[in-house]
Amino acid sequence: MIRARNLNRGRRASAHKTLTVSLGKFSYPIHIGENLLPQAGSRLARLGFDTAPIVITNPTVFKLHGWKLCKSLQAVYGPISVIHIGDGERYKDQRSLNKIYDGLFHARADRKSWLVAFGGGVVGDIAGFAAATYMRGIRYVGVPTTLLAQVDSSVGGKVGINVPQGKNLIGSFHQPSAVLADTGVLKSLPARELAAGLFEVIKCGAIRSTAMIGYLEKHLSQILSCQSEALQHIVLESLRIKAGIVARDEKEKHLRMVLNFGHTVGHAIEAATHFKRFKHGEAVAWGMLAALGYSMELGLTPREEAVRLASLIDRVEKMPSLKGIELSELWDALIRDKKFRAGDIQLVLVPKLGVTRIRDCIRRQHFKAYLKHFLRRGKRIF
Ligand SMILES: NC(=O)c1ccc[n+]([C@@H]2O[C@H](COP(=O)([O-])OP(=O)(O)OC[C@H]3O[C@@H](n4cnc5c(N)ncnc54)[C@H](O)[C@@H]3O)[C@@H](O)[C@H]2O)c1
Repeated sequence: MIRARNLNRGRRASAHKTLTVSLGKFSYPIHIGENLLPQAGSRLARLGFDTAPIVITNPTVFKLHGWKLCKSLQAVYGPISVIHIGDGERYKDQRSLNKIYDGLFHARADRKSWLVAFGGGVVGDIAGFAAATYMRGIRYVGVPTTLLAQVDSSVGGKVGINVPQGKNLIGSFHQPSAVLADTGVLKSLPARELAAGLFEVIKCGAIRSTAMIGYLEKHLSQILSCQSEALQHIVLESLRIKAGIVARDEKEKHLRMVLNFGHTVGHAIEAATHFKRFKHGEAVAWGMLAALGYSMELGLTPREEAVRLASLIDRVEKMPSLKGIELSELWDALIRDKKFRAGDIQLVLVPKLGVTRIRDCIRRQHFKAYLKHFLRRGKRIF
């Protein structure tokens, strides 16, 4: 059963922080802190947004936190239009996109209009794509409300929708003009959503920061019970890592690929189970375990490093099992993945926590045999 988080827990919080994603004239600020929603209007006005925005959201998020955001926007801009899409991955589709376009035309949005993407990764991806395409591109601001969206999807400009042929196959790069990450809203997240986002935080530590891994090991219970300072710390540090990587490789030519640690096998696991059994972050966690085990087998990652990360993953949540996934289905999903370069299997490996290596030309039969073993043994490979 999904537990709701105690909204009143851990009220004390440290000051708000601001990071910048440095992309020349497309640079943008990320504001991070608890209770930012009531300041959204004044902060955005200070950033130069001088007309009323159109908010894209879903009913779940809007019911929980929409009044705070709208009250603060209305105080500065007057009446605000809100466009709702359905809640869930299945609504990141062409129909919802058309609904957003219709809403924008109805609100007489023009090329100077701007959107606020208020929700998790689903809302962020589709609202960002609507912004990328409406009248050849308008500005948007991300106000992410899940941990996954705050530490990952709201920054970097990857926007898009799903089509029957696959996930995220229609999309674009369109950077937001600003991001406001109010860590206070994470307290209403169901426990499983919090855990799914935490796996992306672990990924950030695994690829770039042993300090982050150490922090997670020490403060996991505070994070899982939504203690304010712990939440702010992990959001800030994950965003620092992501913003640094995106600034150096906006369009994923090379460096940005390290953010895909765990995602190659993770996406295949999601696809092989028809996107039903696992949350995205949970599949990524399994993907990280698969990559670690393989790297261990190649003699690249010492066993104690792999075991350290696997133990941390294990402490977060009891993830859905891999039981029943057929190797053939996993393999088909893997070789269909758009991240494969001209049929080459490419994996991001972590030879040592905080350090990455991109391994090209993985030997197919060897990797397939390893996956068979991994599907059978799961976490017992460590
Ligand atoms: N663009 C990128 O770089 C990128 C990166 C990673 C993932 N993604 C995409 O992100 C999506 C997954 O995002 P997600 O995990 O945030 O899922 P989601 O957007 O579906 O949100 C998960 C659930 O939490 C609810 N919710 C959101 N905020 C809440 C809050 N504060 N309190 C209570 N409930 C809340 C939502 O209504 C939803 O039911 C996928 O579509 C994935 O492809 C994009």
